[in-house]
Amino acid sequence: MIQENRQKTVVNKDLNIFKEELSEKDFQVFSSFIYSQYGIKMPPVKRIMLQGRLLKRIRDLNMNSYSEYKDYFFSKEGQQKEIFNFLNVVTTNKTNFFREPVHFNFLLDVILPEYTEQNPNSFFKVWSAGCSSGEEPYTISIILNEFKALKPDFNFSIQGTDISHNVMNKAARGVYAASNVELIPLDYKKKYFLKSKDRENPTVRVNPVLQKNLTLKYVNLINGSYDVQGSFDVIFCRNVLIYFDRETQEKVITRLSSFLKPGGYFFIGHSESLSGMNVPLEHIKPTIFQKTV
Ligand SMILES: C[S@@+](CC[C@H](N)C(=O)[O-])C[C@H]1O[C@@H](n2cnc3c(N)ncnc32)[C@H](O)[C@@H]1O
Repeated sequence: MIQENRQKTVVNKDLNIFKEELSEKDFQVFSSFIYSQYGIKMPPVKRIMLQGRLLKRIRDLNMNSYSEYKDYFFSKEGQQKEIFNFLNVVTTNKTNFFREPVHFNFLLDVILPEYTEQNPNSFFKVWSAGCSSGEEPYTISIILNEFKALKPDFNFSIQGTDISHNVMNKAARGVYAASNVELIPLDYKKKYFLKSKDRENPTVRVNPVLQKNLTLKYVNLINGSYDVQGSFDVIFCRNVLIYFDRETQEKVITRLSSFLKPGGYFFIGHSESLSGMNVPLEHIKPTIFQKTV
């Protein structure tokens, strides 16, 4: 009975919030904040989407309206406490293992043999910028571990960065729905994923070997200074730039390129383009670039 009443209250509250809507003015305030702090474009057509995503926060905080949430969010306390939840709901984190597989084939067949021939005793460093819940850095880790099996002297590290703590926590746990790994080649699945015994909710856990050389941290690509050590042989920045406007994309790519070693490679997503941009990268193949020396 109590449970039923509580449900009714929640439903009534949701209905009230829906009646009220996120006003265009409040939407504009959130949208300007998201753009100035994180570079993410939030045009007026996204108002209803943002409204839907913030509703969950309003419900969790037991608030009554979007304006109450806005006042809290921009208060000193909100900026310290709520910002993490806000980022979790405003970012789009869609990703997959082996997404855009040409990149991983190019890494294994071209970059790694070339690299080990030219730098026999060096340390290979990869950055997955905008790594979401970890599928991208773990795929890179599979490829690098496969290469290491052929060349035991090969050493590497992978850094995954993002602004959403939710997805990075998921990446750190390394546990995924079994359906997420269905399309991974069978021999990789056997080697690198451990199946849960739970039949109702089948999950897989990444083999700890994939986590051994991986670090995860918060890096906002819009910030002038990235808290990142050294320079990289490869940077993956895929399906992240798409959320930025062209001016921001150019700034971010220039900044990321300064962390690439001369001759290092840069991957972008298949719906992204660097055409006409003044960046120190040479086009090698569609969506694959190399830093000009
Ligand atoms: C669609 S996912 C792409 C994940 C992965 N790179 C891939 O291609 O599958 C985009 C990721 O970029 C992150 N992101 C958005 N704005 C960012 C920013 N300003 N700095 C760092 N990461 C950001 C989001 O949190 C999200 O996890």
